[in-house]
Amino acid sequence: MNEQILDFFTKDALEAARANNTYRTLRHISSPEASHVTIAGKDTVLLASNSYLDLANVSELKQAMADAVLEWGTGSGGARLTTGNKTPHDELEEFIAKFKGEEAAIAFNTGYMANVGTISALCSKNDFIFSDELNHASIIDGIRLSRAKCFVYKHNDMADLERAIETAKAEFLAQSASASAALSDAGNAKQGAHPFRGLIVTDAVFSMDGDLANLPELLRIAKAHGVLLMIDEAHATGVLGRTGRGLAEHYNCEHADVTVGTLSKAVAAEGGFVAGSKQLIEFLKNKSRSFIFTTAMAPAVAAAALRNLQFIDAHPERVQQLRDNVKFFCDALRLHGLQVPQTESAIIPIIIGDEAKALRISETLQNEGVLIPAIRYPTVAKGQARLRASLMATHTHEELALAAKEIAEVLSKT
Ligand SMILES: Cc1ncc(COP(=O)(O)O)c(C=O)c1O
Repeated sequence: MNEQILDFFTKDALEAARANNTYRTLRHISSPEASHVTIAGKDTVLLASNSYLDLANVSELKQAMADAVLEWGTGSGGARLTTGNKTPHDELEEFIAKFKGEEAAIAFNTGYMANVGTISALCSKNDFIFSDELNHASIIDGIRLSRAKCFVYKHNDMADLERAIETAKAEFLAQSASASAALSDAGNAKQGAHPFRGLIVTDAVFSMDGDLANLPELLRIAKAHGVLLMIDEAHATGVLGRTGRGLAEHYNCEHADVTVGTLSKAVAAEGGFVAGSKQLIEFLKNKSRSFIFTTAMAPAVAAAALRNLQFIDAHPERVQQLRDNVKFFCDALRLHGLQVPQTESAIIPIIIGDEAKALRISETLQNEGVLIPAIRYPTVAKGQARLRASLMATHTHEELALAAKEIAEVLSKT
């Protein structure tokens, strides 16, 4: 290998990350995902998992996945549109549609691929996308891939969103006018006309802040301006609403036109999905490149995701248990004098600011047996480093009370 050439590509970036405390390393965990894990031989309370309902750890669900492997083997062997589509994929999609209250659904191998593949299929370079400034990286990557013109609006600021749509429409009208003038000069006035196409896209639960998108207001704006609305329910499915159906259930309102979700967080399997009208899903099956040009998820994974979703459907009390834990933990943190936002999701940010300090606090807590990761730039803005606690339905009040006390103590000493 030519090390000098590799240095040209990699050395500066790695050195800069080391210098500004954003260098990343993998943590070694030697036990399965659960509310407690083993790190370097030590029992540690895990306040960092997206497995919000702790389903990765339910015996009957583990058994169901093992049985599915025995029935369906270890891999799918082909893309969904070639030979990879097996009964569990179809059953999973049917159930997702039912669970989400939509006409149809399509499964992707990851939530990342669902976002990237949906946005880049729906939009192209003549379209306009309106994106919340705190949207997840997979949304941002989908927008980049689409080459559409993107307006980033201030976080959850609906007035800024409306301003952005109006600006985009004015820009579009000006462009159309000059394009049709050019065409009519060329004696070809009818060609080239296409309608204004806009897409609002937002996380349902913002992954690093835990706050919620204002779905009722987004629906109103989308309707008023004639644009499409897409929400990403990665951290909402299994968490929000009485039965964990997500943001629309939480607000008791209509659904977005396009609902994306993941099967890897509260559902505790792997994969992503889009739910919506039959026409939308048929379109994605035909046009979404991250659906078409990849091997289908293993049928056993689809079967596990289905079984886990059915479990959520049958156990709304588990969703309630999670909500109860979030309230208990936030109250405990406040009792110790910490400022935490009012949150209805399972994500609780404790803002530190400085990257190095956030890292030190997280490391000290880990040594004390509490794992809460320090989230730093570029995942959040520079100087906005934070501890990101996320809870599970199975944490006990005792361990949450103890963790809150330890967090407050370490913070006061650092
Ligand atoms: C808001 C959001 N969307 C999408 C994803 C991607 O989902 P997946 O992990 O299934 O790829 C994540 C996290 O990973 C996320 O936080």
